[in-house]
Order: sequence, then structure tokens, then C-alpha cells
Amino acid sequence: ATLDGSGPATLDEPGPSKSPAKELETEVARRRTFAVISHPDAGKSTLTEALALHARVISEAGAIHGKAGRRSTVSDWMEMEKARGISVSSTALQFNYQTSPDAEITNVINLVDTPGHADFSEDTYRVLTAVDAAVMLIDAAKGLEPQTLKLFQVCRQFGIPVITVINKWDRPGQSPLELFDEIESRIGLTPTPLYWPVGIAGDFRGLLDVQDGSYIRFTRTAGGATIAPEEFMSAEAAAEREGVDWDTAVEESDLLISSGQQHDQEMFLAGQTSPVIFGSAMLNFGVRQILDTLVALAPSPGPRDDVSGGVREVTDPFSAVVFKVQAGMDTAHRDRLAFMRVVSGVFERGMVVTHSQTKKPFTTKYALTVFGRDRTTVENAYPGDIVGLVNATALAPGHTLYTDKKVEFPPIPSFAPEHFSALRVDSADKYKKFRRAVEQLDSEGVVQVLRNDIRGDASPVLAAVGPMQFEVVTARMKTEFGVDARMEPLGYSLARRTDAASAVELGRQRGVEVFTRTDGALLALVSDKWRLQYIQKEMPELTLEPLVAAG
Ligand code: G4P
Repeated sequence: ATLDGSGPATLDEPGPSKSPAKELETEVARRRTFAVISHPDAGKSTLTEALALHARVISEAGAIHGKAGRRSTVSDWMEMEKARGISVSSTALQFNYQTSPDAEITNVINLVDTPGHADFSEDTYRVLTAVDAAVMLIDAAKGLEPQTLKLFQVCRQFGIPVITVINKWDRPGQSPLELFDEIESRIGLTPTPLYWPVGIAGDFRGLLDVQDGSYIRFTRTAGGATIAPEEFMSAEAAAEREGVDWDTAVEESDLLISSGQQHDQEMFLAGQTSPVIFGSAMLNFGVRQILDTLVALAPSPGPRDDVSGGVREVTDPFSAVVFKVQAGMDTAHRDRLAFMRVVSGVFERGMVVTHSQTKKPFTTKYALTVFGRDRTTVENAYPGDIVGLVNATALAPGHTLYTDKKVEFPPIPSFAPEHFSALRVDSADKYKKFRRAVEQLDSEGVVQVLRNDIRGDASPVLAAVGPMQFEVVTARMKTEFGVDARMEPLGYSLARRTDAASAVELGRQRGVEVFTRTDGALLALVSDKWRLQYIQKEMPELTLEPLVAAG
């Protein structure tokens, strides 16, 4: 380290003013780890690209806009990676961002992907355990859509603060006040205006910065491929320039603020309010404002509760939680990539960590680079960062890794399944393998496994958040266990948690079947929501509780 402490301090040689602990604190403070929650087509890929453009990770956007070159099973990000040659993975994108060229701190942004479209699965929800904030991306014309709602409910359960972005303001949509009403009335989240649009949907001129009353006017660039130039104006100049559109923007945002819808950091962090930014990912309008808001308002990585009621501080020795495992479906390669989020301490590649669930050592030599600008191995990572571990056969979502000071984090909860299939194997001689396969896939969290006495052990029911999880099960059963299994879809569409006292009566109902999940939970599967409503009305004494993320 240099004398003034500004040079790089190494871990072996603590500088006079920058100890390893201080350095760790600095790394934590400059990090923001978030995910975008949205319904397919709201513009998540376009926004991801726009964010990368603004952070100057890429120099031009537009190559992957549109569906033409995209296949549903291939992650949009991988397409982007191919198209751009930048290093993003299907799981996390990390980039540096400076709020202004002379900003003292360079922020590190981790954007964790929430798989959607055809690959919507339990992993989509689990990813949210790895982030500190979410950007809820809404299509200005469509408002809140089903997948957004489900993901929002999970954020609410986990206490993740949400920043709302109303996208596609460059084309006709609802009025801003209508959209605010919808958010408030449908999900009970109070939206607070941060950057208000000047010009109606379809005539997007710029943004009113609600906090200081100034105007940011945007200029379109060809195809929205480059950063849209911004012109900064005072309220007076804006009124002159935009006339009635400016006045409307001021009136509308004032109306909300005078009714108490004002940003309040504590209420935002408590998940009661959500700051709102209007934008156009395609034109790159409002994208800088999204990044600046993340830096200004979203929390940096914080401590996490452990299973014994203690707290792991970010400055404690290394610990991490696995939130996603990708198993190769190729017979030749039984490769498994486990993604972990660093919770505390510094991760150094090669370090030997303890796997909390088995108490066995785990060497991170093959800790892989899944992010960063270069496709090299990850050498160091800090709290909030995402690291991929290669050949991590023992690791499953929810597992903990640590060094020095023992810790185990609470398991990731199972989420409300919406797809149910009975699983069968045809030949009896494969039964043993079949059992082993089911047990393995269950323990990895690939799918939820439900059983009851009537169906017996030979025919468990699989429950999933997205139908792709079933495809993964049949494919892996065949390639890894040599079992040809059949899937028979069942006529249930929702699950509710129940108890032993209610189970008997529920079992007698038409369109209902009760199961025990591997974790011991009693679940009642119900054919549809009308059936559920009927039973709840007729037999209010029966326990039927929504599960996490129940729609
Ligand atoms: P997703 O990842 O959330 O599914 O959405 P994606 O970015 O693929 O965007 C879905 C469609 O919405 C794309 O149109 C995209 O261009 C468009 N889009 C995204 N952001 C904006 C925006 O701010 N304004 C407007 N007007 N459109 C936006 P597409 O029809 O599938 O492709 P293309 O023909 O537009 O290229």
C-alpha cells in the first residue's frame, strides 16, 4: 500500500490506513446485487442490454432486440454473450458503474438473472434469495402481469425492497396515475414517484426529477443503439420548452406527494413503498436513472441470519449460500455447476471450504468464472458476488459453505407448485434405480416430490413451478440412471398447505388430493381456484394456507 493509503493494499501486507477488514467493508459498500422481476416481453433482455450499455460494458445495443435469433430454451443472456462477445452467463452479470465520471467510488453491480419464458422454474424464485433488491419491470400498456405478481410475492416474503420501472413509455399505454393506482390497489405496495414522465405514453420527451424538480430531456438515437443524450434544465426552462406537458407532469407528481406518496428510505427498505422510474429500455431513456437509483437507494450486501438464531456479519470469515445448481444433461459429462452467493468474507479461488450439510471439505480450485468482463477464473469475490463452482456434486440449493467459523444458513423454502404429474416407471426391474433417481433429484431440489398411501411409493407425484422441471427430471432419469420414466399430468392446478386435522375431510372432497412432501409438509392439491373457493366457503374450519408465491 502507498503511504496515503490510496494504493492497492494486499491481504498479506496491511497498509497503514487500509486493513483487510477496511478493504472488505469498502468492497461491500460499493456493491449492489439485484434481479429484474417481470413478465415475458416486458423488456427484461432489452433493459439488461441497456444497463450494460450505460455501464459501458458494451458500446452499442440493438443486436439482440427481438425474437428472431432467440430460442426459448437458450437464455437471452447467452445470446447476448454470443452476439456481443461480452462475458455474461445465464446466471449473473457483473459490471462496474460510476454515477458520474468524477465519482469517488466505482460501484460494482451484480445483476442476477431470473429465468423466465419457457425456463420459468423453481430456480426463478430461488434466485431471489441471492439478491438484495429487485427491479420490477412493468409494461406501460399491460400493467401488472401474472409472472410479475408471482415474483413480487416472493420478494415480499423475503423482504426484498423493490424499485419499480415502468417500461415502454415511448409507445401508447395507460396513464401514469392509472398505473400507480393499479400497483397500490392490486398488491398493496405504495408507489412513490422518483422520475416522472414528461409527455404521455407514446410521446416520451423526458423525466421530471421529482426530488429536485429539474428536467432531464432525452434525445433519441438511431434505433436506441447508443446512450440517449440528456439535456438538463431547470423547472422554468422545462415549462417553457414543454409547455402543458411539463405542467401536467408537475401536477401529477405533486398530487401523489401531497397525498403522502413520497419516497421514504425506511419504508422502501421495509417493502412498503416502491420508488418508480418511467423509462424506455429500447430508447435507453431512464436507464441511467435506474442505475443511479440502485446505487443511491438499494441496500449493499448485509448480514444474514443463520439457523441457530445468530447473525453472520459481512465482515465475518467466508461463507456463501448455494442458490442454483445446473446439471449437464449430457451423458458423457456429469458436470454440475453450483452457483453461490457470497454472504461474508472474501472468497479466494482455491480455498478449501466446509460444506455445512456434510461437514466435508470442498476445494474451490475449479471455482469458475461465471461473470466478469474476462472469461477467466474467479480469483476473488466479495459479499454480494455470485460464483459458479464446477463439479460440485454434493451441493444443492440452500446449502452453506464456510471457512474458519462454522455457520449454516436456513434452507431455501419450497415454492408454491402449479404443475403436477404422476411419475411412473414401466418395468419392475428398474424400480430400485427409479427410487434412487427420485431421491437424488428430490434432494437436489430439481422438483418437489409428493406421496400418499393411496398412490404408494411406486408412483410419487412431482410438483413444479414450471413444466420445464419435468423435462429435466425425465431427461436426467434416462441419462444418469438409465430409467425410462413416464409423466402423467394430473388435473390439479394449485397447492395449499394443510394439517392432519383437515386432511381427512379434504381427502373426501371432489377435485382434492392430500399429499406429504419430503420435507414433511402436508399439501392439498386442488383442481382449480373455484373448487378451492367453494371448499373454503363451505368448510371454513379446514386449514388451506397459501404457500410462498402462491398466485
Ligand atoms: P423480455 O426479455 O422481458 O421477454 O423482453 P424483451 O427485452 O425481449 O422485449 C420484448 C419486446 O418488447 C421486444 O419486441 C422489444 O424490442 C420490446 N421492447 C422492450 N423494451 C421496449 C421499450 O422500451 N419500448 C418499446 N417500444 N419496445 C420495447 P419484439 O417485438 O419482440 O422485437 P422487436 O421487433 O421490437 O425487435
